[in-house]
Amino acid sequence: MTNPVTTQPSGAIPAQPKPRDTVEATDCVIPGAGPADRPGERATLRLRETGPEEAGEPPRYAPEWLQLREPADAAARAHDLLDPLRIRLANLPGRADGTVIHDLGCGTGSMGRWLAPLLDGAQHWVLHDRDPYLLHFAAVASPRSAADGSRVSVETRRGDIARLTPDALHGASLVTASALLDVLTREEVGTLAAACAGAGCPALLTLSVAGRVDLTPSHPLDAEITEAFNDHQRRTGLLGPDAATVAAKAFAEHGATVRVHPSPWRLGPEHAALTEHWLRGWVGAAVEQRPDLGERAQRYLAERLATCAAGELRVVVHHSDLLALCRPRGGAS
Ligand SMILES: C[S@@+](CC[C@H](N)C(=O)[O-])C[C@H]1O[C@@H](n2cnc3c(N)ncnc32)[C@H](O)[C@@H]1O
Repeated sequence: MTNPVTTQPSGAIPAQPKPRDTVEATDCVIPGAGPADRPGERATLRLRETGPEEAGEPPRYAPEWLQLREPADAAARAHDLLDPLRIRLANLPGRADGTVIHDLGCGTGSMGRWLAPLLDGAQHWVLHDRDPYLLHFAAVASPRSAADGSRVSVETRRGDIARLTPDALHGASLVTASALLDVLTREEVGTLAAACAGAGCPALLTLSVAGRVDLTPSHPLDAEITEAFNDHQRRTGLLGPDAATVAAKAFAEHGATVRVHPSPWRLGPEHAALTEHWLRGWVGAAVEQRPDLGERAQRYLAERLATCAAGELRVVVHHSDLLALCRPRGGAS
């Protein structure tokens, strides 16, 4: 696997975690999906001594983490949802600037790098995130051409997608998001569904964690760690593993036709760096949720990291992709 850390846009901070096999209260660990609270701003970049929550800021995602997961994300995404999407896009009235795609919570822009070259015709991507640092990376590394060679342009918009309105999506052909729904609340997903429905715009919402993980070889603690991690994801009211189900219901209530498709990460020896980062974050969040797992979880992580380093660990991290075909404004779905 190409090391995604070395291919990132200039200015990025290289992610070179020290080899460790412990989970400590101050570890900088990265969860498999979504932000988590302290300790260590897992999935986030430490920019100052005071943690982001203490400073009253939302957690920030490290671009290194997003880049490390990008190849596995690309391999996992559900291609089966693309044909129904292409049909919907082909039936939209033509626009001078082509297909207008709003990518919500774009991070460093991996969704556009994957999707733009799979769609024909000129595209204009509107990249939304609350983090200006990530928006910068997304703009620098944005895709340049569509499947048929047509031009792809981008603009960035900094803001809170929890406050998205149909007006903000005026003129949109498509809304996308990736690894986002599980870090939103039920209310925020409801707002998103309402905005898309109000704008008559389809939505492709990918890579929401499903709360299931298969590790081979298995270990007696797998289920307990999984359960603790899932509880951790939900504990501040975020949807975590309930995201796809809640979103499907929210869009359906607005009259959308919804399809959900599995999009699992399939991690083998060639993904050792990603698996290691994911394991540290996954176990770290579980321990934060269930401190009583302490010693057992430490031993578990050490064993899992050793198996990973030996090239003998396989992990399937289940996700879901969702396509919601909202009723076009003034027409039937
Ligand atoms: C897990 S990352 C996924 C990034 C990217 N979509 C990807 O797949 O690599 C979630 C992203 O959503 C952004 N985000 C989360 N909640 C947000 C909100 N309420 N408003 C704007 N951006 C948000 C974060 O800053 C982060 O870039």
